[in-house]
Amino acid sequence: MNTALFGDELLERPRRELSPGAVHVPGWLSLPQQAWITARFHEWSAGPVPLRAASVRGHEMSVRTLCLGWHWQPYRYTREATDVNGARVLPLPEWLARVGRLAVAEAYGQSTEGEDYTPDTALVNFYDESARMGMHQDRDELSRAPVVSLSVGDSCLFRFGNTGTRTRPYEDITIASGDLFVFGGPARLSFHGVMKTFPGTAPAACGLPSGRINITLRVTGLA
Ligand code: SIN
Ligand code: MN
Repeated sequence: MNTALFGDELLERPRRELSPGAVHVPGWLSLPQQAWITARFHEWSAGPVPLRAASVRGHEMSVRTLCLGWHWQPYRYTREATDVNGARVLPLPEWLARVGRLAVAEAYGQSTEGEDYTPDTALVNFYDESARMGMHQDRDELSRAPVVSLSVGDSCLFRFGNTGTRTRPYEDITIASGDLFVFGGPARLSFHGVMKTFPGTAPAACGLPSGRINITLRVTGLA
């Protein structure tokens, strides 16, 4: 069989619901779509608010973040990046909100759910080869609408757990360039984190020679 045509790597990594509401869709973004996201990432990094490592209880995170729509800082959202340079963040582009709607429809089926999904913020994280993210919940949003996660670049070891504790039971999965992960409904407040990235695993055509970009789309519920 022609593996280039039929994508054996996708057959080995089937789409899966880890727990009710938590859906992993490998290879959802095409390589041109991934390269497009990489190019936008470089534009967004030019400002007006630069990529920065947020400080959590006096410790700088190893991940660097930029935001669109609303600016996230521990543990709230503001329009201006008051913990960086005071500038207002860029708006969330309409194409990215549309990607969010398609993602929710992909994860949960072609019900009305995808059509109604209106993310108003994107947290764009960059992981260099030593960056990781400890187990946490995404709970600074007033809305409990799903979180849509898109990844480009190096693969990572992603840990997805339960809503009660940052410890077991959890599951470790590999999230690769182009993968979609959506967590909503009963999984919306599940603890999750990035244990490590795997340097050198990014496909050349994604446009990112090293590191990992992760975009999470969220509904803040703020006005
Ligand atoms: C996050 O939890 O906000 C980011 C998850 C990821 O990088 O995959
Ligand atoms: Mn998170």
